[in-house]
Amino acid sequence: MEFILDTINLDEIRDGVDHMPISGITSNPSIVKKTAPDDFFEHMREVRRIIGKERSLHIQVVGTTCEDMLRDAKRIFEEVDEDVYIKIPTSYEGVKAIKALKAQGRNVTATAIYTVMQAYMALEAGADYIAPYVNRIANIGGDPYDLIDKVESRIAMDGYDCKILAASFHALGQVEESLAAGAQAITAPYGVLKTIFGNINISQAIKDFNNDWYDLYGDNKKVS
Ligand code: E4P
Repeated sequence: MEFILDTINLDEIRDGVDHMPISGITSNPSIVKKTAPDDFFEHMREVRRIIGKERSLHIQVVGTTCEDMLRDAKRIFEEVDEDVYIKIPTSYEGVKAIKALKAQGRNVTATAIYTVMQAYMALEAGADYIAPYVNRIANIGGDPYDLIDKVESRIAMDGYDCKILAASFHALGQVEESLAAGAQAITAPYGVLKTIFGNINISQAIKDFNNDWYDLYGDNKKVS
């Protein structure tokens, strides 16, 4: 299982990586707009310095033709580094770009997945991760968990070396259901992952335990 943070906010990345078992960072142009760095590539180099090479960094292209996507990917490799997972929207042109990047031995994340057939195309084109958009699929009346289940079955059946990176989350329950449906990885906003620990019962339990301890021993008897 992998937990990835869907943000390029440096404070969120530092804090998230420091506290949680985070295995990477994803971004897209809308996520970039929220932080609005003056120098995008310097910002992404700083993200890499924070997360190190042991975590994955996923950066999306903006070109809409295969040629332009490959040009964007080349610039990302030059400006950030060659280990970046290039996020390619799984359009007709995008699938061509995924095939071309994999033929070059590059890391690829197929994104903007709304349908099972798009996911199958990305799988067969060789993507390393495929990112179904859970909240967006649900918003248009689809069943993202059925999609994840079908794609996971196909990965297992045919032995694809690819992970489902469920994305587009607005609530923690969507994350939990995606993992239950078979996603091997999820990418979620910092705020969504932090709600895991916002459950009032957790802080109440800790308070009750500590009160019992101090009732028994007072302030002088520390555990450590
Ligand atoms: C992954 O990085 C996706 O681009 C992202 O999760 C989409 O999220 P949204 O549907 O909230 O825009």
